[in-house]
Amino acid sequence: MNRIAILGTGRMGSALAGALLDGGVPVTVWNRTRERATPLAAKGAELAETVAAAIRASDIVLVNVRDYHASADLLGAEDAQAALKDRIVVELSSGTPGQAREAATRIKSSGGEFIAGAIMATPNFIGTQDGVILFSGPADAYARHDKIFKLLGHAQHVGVDPGLASALDLALLTQMWGLLFGTLHAAAICEANGVGLADFARHRLAFIPTVEGATEDLIARAADQRLSGDAATLASLATHWSSFRHMLADSQANGIDVRSAQGWKAIFERAIAAGHIDDDFAVLTKFMRHAR
Ligand SMILES: NC(=O)c1ccc[n+]([C@@H]2O[C@H](COP(=O)([O-])OP(=O)(O)OC[C@H]3O[C@@H](n4cnc5c(N)ncnc54)[C@H](OP(=O)(O)O)[C@@H]3O)[C@@H](O)[C@H]2O)c1
Repeated sequence: MNRIAILGTGRMGSALAGALLDGGVPVTVWNRTRERATPLAAKGAELAETVAAAIRASDIVLVNVRDYHASADLLGAEDAQAALKDRIVVELSSGTPGQAREAATRIKSSGGEFIAGAIMATPNFIGTQDGVILFSGPADAYARHDKIFKLLGHAQHVGVDPGLASALDLALLTQMWGLLFGTLHAAAICEANGVGLADFARHRLAFIPTVEGATEDLIARAADQRLSGDAATLASLATHWSSFRHMLADSQANGIDVRSAQGWKAIFERAIAAGHIDDDFAVLTKFMRHAR
């Protein structure tokens, strides 16, 4: 059985180590603050004195620290770098697609293989089917260790480009923030207009099938570039724009912070100025990037 080194035993790293130990995998842990790793020793993990010792003791090196900068510092130390030859580094710290690609190049130049991972879950979901983890990097290296990845959660290989897992991570987080900041704004509208938050919660749930359908439709239309208004259009830009302005007017009248909504307004206005008022909402995809 492969021995796994886990560098970083904060909230997430401890959960990852716990899931591997529960699965009977031999684990060596290292953490900058040693006390945070000691509870894992009670569960059967070996504690390494140094990063290099943890790498030398293992076949697979799983990294979960604050970010890619912290990880690069740890793995870039001379003794750690020398130990990386023939190891697989699985980077589960959060970062950008560019950082993942740079890390892949660095690890390869040290004689190791690199797989990037993005954890789409909080620590309580690790080791369960609701704990989605996206991986990208060489397909053969992923396939060789697929059993290990499955112990960590609902593991999915999304492609060979090491930047893909982070790209999807950022995309899904952006969707999440859209929903969470939207929820903050929505709750403020309810509060200003005497709607209780329990009622908000109930009606929000009733709207979800419609919102989910509109989201699927938007992505499908963007993929096929079906951006004009047509017989299958669910709601034109004109329809959205009209309701959007009602929301903005009421929010402004109630002193709600509309700065994020002003950003959406600017996107609507650019599309309308370019003559797209009768097109599908999906036409806004053309206005999401600045000209390079
Ligand atoms: N928690 C989540 O829900 C979640 C979800 C998805 C992804 N993640 C990602 O998982 C990673 C860890 O998050 P976490 O929630 O476990 O955070 P955390 O509990 O604050 O742990 C951070 C870990 O990073 C280590 N660390 C920070 N700076 C370091 C440095 N300069 N050198 C060496 N080690 C350093 C810490 O070591 P010390 O103990 O010595 O401080 C600790 O092990 C982050 O990249 C985060 O984005 C977390």
